[in-house]
Amino acid sequence: MRVANTYPDRHVCVIGLGYVGLTLAVALAEVGFQVHGVELNPKTVEVIQSGRAPFKETGLDLRLAAQVSAGNLTASLDWPAPGTSNVYIVTVGTPLGAGEKITNLTSIRHVAERLSENLRPNNLILLRSTVRVGVSRDIVKAALDTSGLPYDLAFCPERTLEGKALHELRTLPQIIGGLTPASTMRASQFFNFLTPTTIRVRDLETAEMIKLINNTQRDLMFAFANEVAEMCDAIGVSALEVIEAGNMGYPRASMPIPGPVGGPCLEKDPYILAEGVTARGGEVRMPLLGREVNEALPSRTAKIVFDELLERGPSEKIQKGVIMGVAFKGRPETSDLRGTLAIPLIKELKTVFPDVKLVAYDPSVPDSDVESLGVEVSSSASEAFEGASFVIYQNNNVIFQSLDLSALSQSLAPGAIIYDMWNQYDSEMLHLRDDTVYFGLGTRILASISGTAGLADTKS
Ligand SMILES: NC(=O)c1ccc[n+]([C@@H]2O[C@H](COP(=O)([O-])OP(=O)(O)OC[C@H]3O[C@@H](n4cnc5c(N)ncnc54)[C@H](O)[C@@H]3O)[C@@H](O)[C@H]2O)c1
Repeated sequence: MRVANTYPDRHVCVIGLGYVGLTLAVALAEVGFQVHGVELNPKTVEVIQSGRAPFKETGLDLRLAAQVSAGNLTASLDWPAPGTSNVYIVTVGTPLGAGEKITNLTSIRHVAERLSENLRPNNLILLRSTVRVGVSRDIVKAALDTSGLPYDLAFCPERTLEGKALHELRTLPQIIGGLTPASTMRASQFFNFLTPTTIRVRDLETAEMIKLINNTQRDLMFAFANEVAEMCDAIGVSALEVIEAGNMGYPRASMPIPGPVGGPCLEKDPYILAEGVTARGGEVRMPLLGREVNEALPSRTAKIVFDELLERGPSEKIQKGVIMGVAFKGRPETSDLRGTLAIPLIKELKTVFPDVKLVAYDPSVPDSDVESLGVEVSSSASEAFEGASFVIYQNNNVIFQSLDLSALSQSLAPGAIIYDMWNQYDSEMLHLRDDTVYFGLGTRILASISGTAGLADTKS
């Protein structure tokens, strides 16, 4: 359904053109909204004005260029004149404060104040940034009320996956919790131009809570899989086999495989949930425990790799280590380093292997960004593997699947190990050089089995 020129909420201002704001702005422009984006970062504004995407996201470059050149999407550092837009959508970041587990709400507060100055009667305000329960009412509503004008307000969380955002904006159900039933209905009508399903919930707080619970559940699911990995290593069985066989054809099990959990949302949303609950006198246990398990992965990884290498030879021989994939995830591929476990992993490796040269290869991340993590950049997997004593796969970039690990293993240092935090290769299909081993998170059992023949024996 396209937006008619007479639709009263056709003129939209999106505040904050990051991953969430820009993809939403493009999706809205595509269905006929006239969208203006306000963004603090001059470089981002300049890139968008020239019709390019400032970050990697499937389909974004071409679709952004089309909307910018058609004049449906504009961007600026300054706010538009009051009255130019009927709808304001807030998509600024809500990171945790540096070294803290508490949300930094500076941007939200700033935008709420500006909104109250820019407000015209009956504007619609949609808050989309992830916030602790209560922020829509206590900060945004409180600021808007100072204008003395009537307005509509709703919290409409963003739930898309990076790499699939443009697709999911048109397909995922949109949760809507309004300040009043009228706000909810108006916001619902607005989002129906994008997606066929809108789910209207009782109030602002319910919608805020849904977003946080969705993400915390995901984080906890992965945390349990990661703890299963640790338990399976202790017992001496493969977590992959335990999880996959347990899931197979059994409708009451759907456990994910273990792996690093990072990114701009899961690393913080359980803390944002806890912040809101404890502020209201509630208690939070499992979400914090889940974070603890997932955040322990880098130090556990460095320790496993160190212990395994020591069992295989003296540590002075270890001169080079490799990290494959530094983005927070590999599929869908992204260049996003926010919340990536590569950062704490590199820190842990530098502690455990202070004299070892650390090299990283990520086909989706610009070299300068890789370098900013304090490692050397490799331009190819073969260059990275050359002479390395250990290789750690931190993500599962789609390109890694097509690498010939058997051939690459030939150039590794003697007694090297390949540790895969995603268990993305079928160990039975690998023909590594005899003195090298491949194993991963929850599959340490493979390290004690050298060669494909040995593996086949144990499986039979
Ligand atoms: N990235 C995701 O996949 C995702 C998914 C769901 C929800 N979220 C949530 O959505 C929100 C935004 O996330 P993001 O990934 O787009 O963040 P981001 O940091 O990529 O983008 C935020 C943008 O807002 C801009 N900004 C900050 N203050 C501003 C101001 N006062 N005026 C104008 N612009 C301002 C920043 O410069 C930045 O470009 C966060 O609350 C996040 O938790 C993100």
